[in-house]
Amino acid sequence: MSSSKTRKSTDVEQLELEAKFKELELTLPKQLWFGFSFHNYQGFWCPTFILKNVIAFQTHFEAQDTDIILASLPKTGTTWLKSLLYTILNRKSTSLHTISQQVFQTKNPHELVTSFEFNIYKNFNETQPDLSDLPSPRLFSTHIPFLSLPDSIKSSKSRIVYVCRNPLDTFVSTWHFNLSFDTNKDMKSSTEMMEEYVDKFCTGLLRFGPYDSHLLEYWKEYLQNPDRILFLEYEGLKKEPKAHLRKLADFLSCPFSEEEENENVVEEIIKICSFQSLKEKDVNKNGKAVPIVENKHFFRKGEVGDWNNDLTASMAKKLDQLLQGKLKEAGFSFTYYQPPEFGGYY
Ligand code: A3P
Repeated sequence: MSSSKTRKSTDVEQLELEAKFKELELTLPKQLWFGFSFHNYQGFWCPTFILKNVIAFQTHFEAQDTDIILASLPKTGTTWLKSLLYTILNRKSTSLHTISQQVFQTKNPHELVTSFEFNIYKNFNETQPDLSDLPSPRLFSTHIPFLSLPDSIKSSKSRIVYVCRNPLDTFVSTWHFNLSFDTNKDMKSSTEMMEEYVDKFCTGLLRFGPYDSHLLEYWKEYLQNPDRILFLEYEGLKKEPKAHLRKLADFLSCPFSEEEENENVVEEIIKICSFQSLKEKDVNKNGKAVPIVENKHFFRKGEVGDWNNDLTASMAKKLDQLLQGKLKEAGFSFTYYQPPEFGGYY
C-alpha cells in the first residue's frame, strides 16, 4: 500500500506550486513552536516544511470512492490505528502470523499507511505521485483538518476513520514527543515551560491545531454523513477493543466472519497491534520511518490518564476547558473520558 509509481512533475506544475508557496510563506501568520516554524494556513497551524506538500496534495490528489483515509491530530493514536487498519484490511491475503512476524518486524506502521502531507507529496517538486494503480481499497493518512482536504475527497464517497483523544493526554504525549527530538535535546523542561505550552495548546498552537476546530470539523461531517466517517476515541479503543475492532471491520466492509470469531481472530489482531507487541519490534526500537523522528518515539507509554503524572491541577483544568466551548455547543462530548473533577476515566 505504501509504494506508488511516480512521474516527473511538469515545469508548469512546479512553477505554480513554487509561486503559491512563496506568496503564502511571506503573507501567512507565522509562529515558532518547540523550535519548529509554523504557518497559519487556512486556519490551521501547518509545519512550514510541509506547507508545499499540503498545497500539492490539495491541488493534485484524485480520490476514489473506495479510498480509506485515516485522519487524526498527531499524538491521538495514529500509529495504533495504522497498524489496526492495515491488519484488518490485509488479514485475508496475508496471514496474521506473517503480518506480525514479517511485516511488522520490518516496517513501522507509518511506512505501511503513508501520509499525504509527510510522505506522498513530499517530493512534488521533482515527481508527481501516481497512485492510480495502488491496490483497492487504497489506504492513506492525514493530519489535515476536514475543511482543508482536497475537494476530490470531500465530494467522493471515500471513507474516513477519525481518531481523537482527550486533550490532557494529547498534550502530554505531544510534550514528550517534541522534547524527544535531537534538535530539542538542549531544551530544559520545567513547570514554567510546560505552563507556557499548555497555554499555547489552549489557544490552538499545536501541529494542525487548533485542537477543538480539528475535532469539530470531523465531528460535524460525521453527524451529516455517519456512513462516511467512523469517529473513534483512543480511550474507547483501550477500554473496549473487541467492540471497536468489529466496528472498524464493519465500516471497512470486511466484517469478521463467524469462523474468524470462533478462531479468536479479533483477539489476535488486538494482540498483534498492541502497544507492547509493536514497541518490541526491532524496527520500532532502531528504525526511522519519517524524517527527524525515530520510530521509538511513536511508542512512549500508550496509556489513558498518563496526564496525572505530568500536569498540575490548573493545567489539567485549562486543557479540559477546551471541551467546554464550541465542542460542547456542537453537542460533542467524549464517551470514555471523564473530566478530572469527576474522578478519572473508568
Ligand atoms: P503516549 O505518548 O501517551 O504514550 P500518534 O501515533 O498519533 O503519534 O500517537 C502516539 C501515542 O499513541 C503515544 O501516546 C503512543 O505511545 C501511543 N501508541 C502508539 N502505539 C500504540 C498502540 N499500539 N496502542 C496504544 N497506544 C499506542
